[in-house]
Amino acid sequence: MTDRIENLLTHHRQHVGDAPTTLYQAPGRVNLLGEHTDYSGGFCMPAALSFNTLVAASPRADTLLRLHSLDFAQSTEADLRTLAIPPRSAHPAWNHYVEGVAWSLQQEGITLTGADLTITGNVPQGAGLSSSASIEVATATALLALANQTLPKPTIALACQRAENRYVHGSCGIMDQFISACGVRGNALAIDTRALTAELAPIPDNLRLVVCNSMVTHQVAGESPYAQRRREVEEAANVLHRKNPAIKQLRDATLNDLEASRLDMSYPAFLRARHVITDSQRVVDGVALLRAGNQRAFGALMTEAHASFRDDFAASCDQCDLLVRLALSLPGCLGSRLTGGGFGGCTVSLVEAPHADSFAATLQKLYFDAIAVTAQIFICEIADGAGPVSFPPLHKSTSS
Ligand code: GLA
Repeated sequence: MTDRIENLLTHHRQHVGDAPTTLYQAPGRVNLLGEHTDYSGGFCMPAALSFNTLVAASPRADTLLRLHSLDFAQSTEADLRTLAIPPRSAHPAWNHYVEGVAWSLQQEGITLTGADLTITGNVPQGAGLSSSASIEVATATALLALANQTLPKPTIALACQRAENRYVHGSCGIMDQFISACGVRGNALAIDTRALTAELAPIPDNLRLVVCNSMVTHQVAGESPYAQRRREVEEAANVLHRKNPAIKQLRDATLNDLEASRLDMSYPAFLRARHVITDSQRVVDGVALLRAGNQRAFGALMTEAHASFRDDFAASCDQCDLLVRLALSLPGCLGSRLTGGGFGGCTVSLVEAPHADSFAATLQKLYFDAIAVTAQIFICEIADGAGPVSFPPLHKSTSS
């Protein structure tokens, strides 16, 4: 991380004329179980990754938000007093994620100061590893620090989700922002997305999470397959609610409730709901298995989750199915599945540590041999959620 920090500080000084007063990081994530459950109040089990977004921040005396992105080599400027929701776009500009967070914090009643922010990230984009949530949460924590304000972490996550839902028009749930704000090193979190609470789901030291990017890009913003699936899930939830008003979200429904209403909804809505109900339950079962040290059964649950995501939720793609099949054929692999919003992006495999290097190399080779695409592969560390990053005092000020 040191080189990235050095580079960020250098650029910040070039653009702003001085060193930043604060530097914050927020991570991307991989999800192990519980996919598309978070907008139904269900459970999910993500882990924060050591890929992150870094935001260097200096306060301004005026109300301007001046942004510079190292990765896009672009600068933008907006006024905090006149931030306005931009029109819907299939490819929102990077600065809209940042401005959206400022807008959302102001909606929360926070008085922000003008700021110069310099931003860089290494979360692979469009890969389903939550690069947008990491930008949002890093921005929120940096802006709050500049304004000398604090908010509980789940509230920060909600503010960032609101930015993405309303300012960027992305129909995401709370999972990505929550784990980016609240992640704990060495652990996945079993998140109750309705209560906005989480339990630690410790990943044993002898296992590695190996993330493999199929290189099929996906999109959450605008009219996407994600939004389509969400509508189908909502159709099922509405039918169940009409029958039994105590079912407010799919979180409240059992498989029996769903079966009893099977003919009252479209068949796709039935299948999507079956995935949501069973995958949320897999999170509850998965925590118990991890606590009991039953690593093989946990891996098998991940593989079962893939089948549910592929068959009931119809959110996989040929390339990701191939990656999962190849992964499961390799020594040391306990489980494998497509992670994130679906329709491309990354798979995550649970691999015994001594096999991790050869697993990664062989998976990449087999995938290339099959479809002539070089997958990016990462043997991941599970990192902490957002927080301040210390940087050398040498860089604090050029004027002293
Ligand atoms: C995307 C969304 C999340 C969640 C996942 C699917 O990552 O941002 O809120 O719905 O898809 O589990």
